[in-house]
Amino acid sequence: MKTLGILGGGQLGRLIAEAAKGLGWRTAALDAAPDAPALKVVDVPVVGSVDDPAAARRLAEASDLVTLEWELIPAPVLEEVARLKPLYPAPSVLATIQDRLTQKDFLKKNGFPQTDYGTAASAKDVPYYPVVVKRRRHGYDGKGQARLASAAEAERNAEIFRAPCVWEKLVPFEREISVILARGRGGETAVYPVAENLHRGGILHATRAPAAIPEETARRAVELARAIAAALGHVGVLAVELFLLADGSLLVNEIAPRVHNSGHYTLGACATSQFEQHVRAVAGMPLGPTTLRGEAVMVNLLGELWANGEPDWSALKAVPGLALHLYGKTSARPGRKMGHYVVVGPSAAGEWGRADERLGALKRAARI
Ligand SMILES: Nc1ncnc2c1ncn2[C@@H]1O[C@H](COP(=O)(O)OP(=O)(O)O)[C@@H](O)[C@H]1O
Ligand SMILES: [Mg+2]
Repeated sequence: MKTLGILGGGQLGRLIAEAAKGLGWRTAALDAAPDAPALKVVDVPVVGSVDDPAAARRLAEASDLVTLEWELIPAPVLEEVARLKPLYPAPSVLATIQDRLTQKDFLKKNGFPQTDYGTAASAKDVPYYPVVVKRRRHGYDGKGQARLASAAEAERNAEIFRAPCVWEKLVPFEREISVILARGRGGETAVYPVAENLHRGGILHATRAPAAIPEETARRAVELARAIAAALGHVGVLAVELFLLADGSLLVNEIAPRVHNSGHYTLGACATSQFEQHVRAVAGMPLGPTTLRGEAVMVNLLGELWANGEPDWSALKAVPGLALHLYGKTSARPGRKMGHYVVVGPSAAGEWGRADERLGALKRAARI
């Protein structure tokens, strides 16, 4: 039996590991926290930082093939792993994506549409308002970014500029959508139905698939995502986040070279989950069908729901077609992704509009 090693032990690593087991792989994962979600389910848990080349070497030595759940892994670590074992996606793909500036420059060079942007070392570099300023590195779930409406607001938020930033023109989008696809070693792709996403405070709140957009818009989104994956030479699952404007045009927001929160619905709703598909792609196995079994809605469960201990799930579990996924995280901070639920099939119809009601009921039952 061969071993698939995963750099990173969060929920994405855990779901990749579970899918890999279903395809006949042994699994290993690296994380600094011994109780990280993935470390509880893999055959070979490796405790150490994904920022530490020596720790990554231990993972590589325990593996036949290595992948990752997280794109913000330092280049020297990736190079060390790639020197020892096959690593997908390749370090060069991550180098392009890790820095928001090189990612945007890549999109520009290849003619992919995006909002206006530039570098910003301080507020002086911001040419107009409103903008979103984002740290070039290490941002996720809306962290490391600030929405600035005016120069005065930029002054008040000066701490954002403690690390190099990019500024972006604020996009008055009508909807946010994402395309999840897998690209195999031979360049073959499998694309999932376009998903629609609702963010709150920079964090994904809910996803529905298919997105409520015209078929022609979905086709353009898919073509963009395919072209981006090919231009990157990516292998594995890739997510492209897009803004849909009122005039029907699409702008790329950002690219994630990995399984993605907005693709969680595929586990349960599609013939092949994004996690299984990722393993298939990186392992050189044939990609699976992405057919949707029915309409799907996914809602994230964040740490604030745990304010008075683990919530009582009985009301959620009573919903037909609802599957609850908990990541087994031992501490719950507000905003931390602790789990999600997916509703598939006829009962998903009203769920997009019912998420707040369901979360509100959980909070009331827990007296939050
Ligand atoms: N230029 C922008 N215009 C309007 N909204 C934006 C812009 N950039 C980001 N956002 C909002 O913030 C969310 C998080 O930003 P994103 O760049 O995707 O960072 P993260 O890596 O945290 O997901 C987006 O999904 C979107 O809702
Ligand atoms: Mg994003």
